[in-house]
Amino acid sequence: MLETTIGLQCILNGDPLSYAVSPTRRLLDLLREDLRLTGTKIGCEVGRCGACMVLVDGHPVNACLLMAYQCQGRTIETIEGVSPPASGLHPIQKAIVEEGGLQCGYCTPGMVISLKALLERQPCPTREETEEALCGNLCRCTGYEGLLRAVAKVSTQDSDVSDNQQEAE
Ligand code: FES
Ligand code: FES
Repeated sequence: MLETTIGLQCILNGDPLSYAVSPTRRLLDLLREDLRLTGTKIGCEVGRCGACMVLVDGHPVNACLLMAYQCQGRTIETIEGVSPPASGLHPIQKAIVEEGGLQCGYCTPGMVISLKALLERQPCPTREETEEALCGNLCRCTGYEGLLRAVAKVSTQDSDVSDNQQEAE
């Protein structure tokens, strides 16, 4: 039987992507199987664990629930785009390591994606705002306290930088 494909054009981790996808192909499978971007993890596959979280136009989205063709014209960022090899770790990734915010690490890419989106819209989030941002990300190991400390640490660093900038002006 002939399989129909749809032309997909989008921006993936800063680069244009043009790809022929089946209408039944999920974004998760396109990323992991076709493009070998395996930093995006597979967990529940029904939108409950957040292991597959990516940014679509800057918003955290479960890649297991989004069909690849729905990304037409959109900008997608995966964990590989958050910390390309030449750039080193993103500040929230460094803080998660320093604050013991991971153990097995399986949930971590999805956590980083959700927290990056949070910090971009709210550089100094409250504890409640951080908990809300992580409500779609399940971790079976850490108990979340290290993640909350990591966000507090990055927020403090940001406010120190802006305080210093204000003093210098
Ligand atoms: S694998 Fe997508 S939310 Fe769990
Ligand atoms: S660190 Fe193991 S599931 Fe979160």
